[in-house]
Amino acid sequence: MNKTWWKEGVVYQIYPRSFKDSNGDGIGDLSGIIEKLDYLKNLGVNIVWLCPIYRSPNDDNGYDISDYRKIMTEFGTEEDFKELLREMHSRGLKLIMDLVVNHTSDEHHWFAESRKSKDNKYRDYYIWKDGKEGNPPNNWGSFFSGSSWKYDETTEQYYLHLFSTKQPDLNWENKKVRNEVYDMMKFWLDQGIDGFRMDVINLISKVPSLPDGEKVNGALYGDVFPFTANGPRVHEYLQEMNKEVLSNYDIMTVGETPGVNPEIAQLYVNNDRNELNMLFQFELMDIDSGIKGKWDIVPWKLTTFKNIMYKWYDGLKDKGWNSLFLNNHDQPRLVSRFGNDKEYRVESAKMLATFLHTWQGTPYVYQGEEIGMTNVEFKNIEDYRDIEIINMFKEKSEQGIDKDVLMKAIYAKGRDNARTPMQWDSSDNSGFTEGNPWIAVNPNYKEINVEQALEDKNSVFYYYQKLIKLRKENKIIVYGDLELIDKENENIFAYTRSYNGEKLLVVLNFYGEKVQFKVDEKLENKEVKLLISNYQVEDDNLNNIKLRPYEARVYKINFNL
Ligand code: NOJ
Repeated sequence: MNKTWWKEGVVYQIYPRSFKDSNGDGIGDLSGIIEKLDYLKNLGVNIVWLCPIYRSPNDDNGYDISDYRKIMTEFGTEEDFKELLREMHSRGLKLIMDLVVNHTSDEHHWFAESRKSKDNKYRDYYIWKDGKEGNPPNNWGSFFSGSSWKYDETTEQYYLHLFSTKQPDLNWENKKVRNEVYDMMKFWLDQGIDGFRMDVINLISKVPSLPDGEKVNGALYGDVFPFTANGPRVHEYLQEMNKEVLSNYDIMTVGETPGVNPEIAQLYVNNDRNELNMLFQFELMDIDSGIKGKWDIVPWKLTTFKNIMYKWYDGLKDKGWNSLFLNNHDQPRLVSRFGNDKEYRVESAKMLATFLHTWQGTPYVYQGEEIGMTNVEFKNIEDYRDIEIINMFKEKSEQGIDKDVLMKAIYAKGRDNARTPMQWDSSDNSGFTEGNPWIAVNPNYKEINVEQALEDKNSVFYYYQKLIKLRKENKIIVYGDLELIDKENENIFAYTRSYNGEKLLVVLNFYGEKVQFKVDEKLENKEVKLLISNYQVEDDNLNNIKLRPYEARVYKINFNL
């Protein structure tokens, strides 16, 4: 297997708006990030992914870009950016930027021009279609509720927006659009950045005939996925992008790709295809979604969790590379979703981290995860800021769905769970800002914060630090082959990793009850060394492992006995 820095690294994801405010305006900024680089260094990560920091009216917190070459006013200046990059590189940290090119903001000057007239030279930068007002070109729904078409009076046509009305989709069929994107990518790469996380990159090629989507399970709008995800020309575009831009730099690329399976994923990340290095796929993130989608919440089973993870390991084995994440800025906090954020917050956060850092793939740590930050439950819908939550709440309450039911769904799945300010200390507003935070701080910040974590040698922080160090020191964790043990077990997730005659055994209790684990005969009586555990472990043999609630153990097995 090819060895590369981005396979061996650990990525830390920053949502700049919520990370650290340095000037008291209540919004995180680049200088705030610079202040905290030593903290990241101490954690041990070596790659940082920054969510969008470009000029934006913030309809979708920076995922609606009005100028790709300027820094968002609230975040700082171009000079601040240069300083951030210098300071990161001087600490050996690499910087990955978000690339949002499925759509722009409607305030981007391309769109401002495009909407002026049908013969404007930017008209074909976007997807315009005929249709009478109130009768859009097709039945596609937007990911943020409502139709994905908006009627524009000036030219009496509709434009496509798969996300908010302020996020018109770019027309990738137009070579001028592609060239603009490639030039902009070079603009950042030439400043020395180390790669891109590509926002919904598998949606850039639409089926040109734009057929109606199927309305599944009582949905108001047609399903857009069959006609927008992994579309007819997406691989041609990515290969072109790779040839013209990516291949000229030593960088890392990760594509965000909803609606892929391992067979489709290979087309994006297969080593021979010259497209991307890895993908974010969402099968695991959909594990608790019912037939009606994200807000239709159903219980999940550990065996399903294992099957998904193994399917992706096996599906990309020797062909591509997986990215590993259990939360991000669009997902609930991992400890609230897959662990127990009350009685066993610390234990379960560590157990989940053990999984993340010992599976095969590049681990991504989302800000606050390393101190076990949890979901939040705001009382009023007015306290929420996320456009997806706000639009969903409005649409579904108009349909007559009970508000308490909706609030419960938001508590479990809403994106603002991940976007409350980083909890730095127990001072007002968790040390995030001296002003008024743009979104309220999670009230548990007095107990859960970085200052507390750094003072407690048993904290989640130090456990992450140790896992990251282990990964750095043991190539088996990066490159080792993986085998599941006791697949049908509904309580325990166990697997081995093997590499160059070495073997690791990972045993994870995913639940809050004690449980016994019996190893395979092959492993009984082997000499073992415990590499890490979230509990004090006295016995150092594998014959009868009694796991406590959410206990995790990683053993190195001496094979030659
Ligand atoms: C995926 C991003 O992660 C999400 O935050 C954003 O709202 C959409 N893409 C649209 O850009």
